[in-house]
Amino acid sequence: MLYYVTTNPGKIREARQYLGDETITDYDYDYPEIQSESMKAIAAEGARDAYRKLGEPVVVDDSGLFVNGLEGFPGPYSSYVEEKLGIERVWNLVEPLDDRTASFRCVMAYCDGDPFEASPDPVDKDDRAAAAASAGESLEEDEPLAVKLFVGTVRGEIVAPRGDGGFGFDPIFEHDDSTFAELTSEEKNALSHRGRALAKFAEWYETKDS
Ligand code: IMP
Repeated sequence: MLYYVTTNPGKIREARQYLGDETITDYDYDYPEIQSESMKAIAAEGARDAYRKLGEPVVVDDSGLFVNGLEGFPGPYSSYVEEKLGIERVWNLVEPLDDRTASFRCVMAYCDGDPFEASPDPVDKDDRAAAAASAGESLEEDEPLAVKLFVGTVRGEIVAPRGDGGFGFDPIFEHDDSTFAELTSEEKNALSHRGRALAKFAEWYETKDS
């Protein structure tokens, strides 16, 4: 069984729908998010942490909204901004801008404790080496657990909130004339950042041990 690590019911609903109930189960664990501008580094370290806690194969999903007219903000700070400002105020910030285009990005990180071939060199090695150096420690080369990353992106535009579905920033993210909150989760999965990352993950996972 594969554990999908999230405290967000919206993410697990979409992942279950994509991968099937028999493939994944919910692991309601709030992994500590490292301080980093890199969503890949955040997801990779989250997956290692969750795997160390659970000892079973895990997938972590770190997502963010990048508004082009705000130089990519809130990006890795998306959950903080949603919690502190709320989506209505994010719309108020973006409304006066000339460029309201944006993208959602999802990074999925898989870890099962095995040093699988397909894993690239841990993407966050430099970040962790720098953090270790500033703490007067050195990074043990044989310690990092292998993590495989899958990235999905979708472009759209920030609009006034519309729709009752989805979660998070969905009501203010428009793609092809509908906000994500106006789509069913099947429709959202077919074109969203998460759906695209899930498609890449599912394809790799199916052939992983063959
Ligand atoms: P995190 O990946 O849980 O850190 O999520 C970052 C922020 O993006 C949170 O505020 C989520 O609610 C929001 N978010 C993540 N995925 C989606 C999505 O698919 N649609 C809308 N908002 C999302």
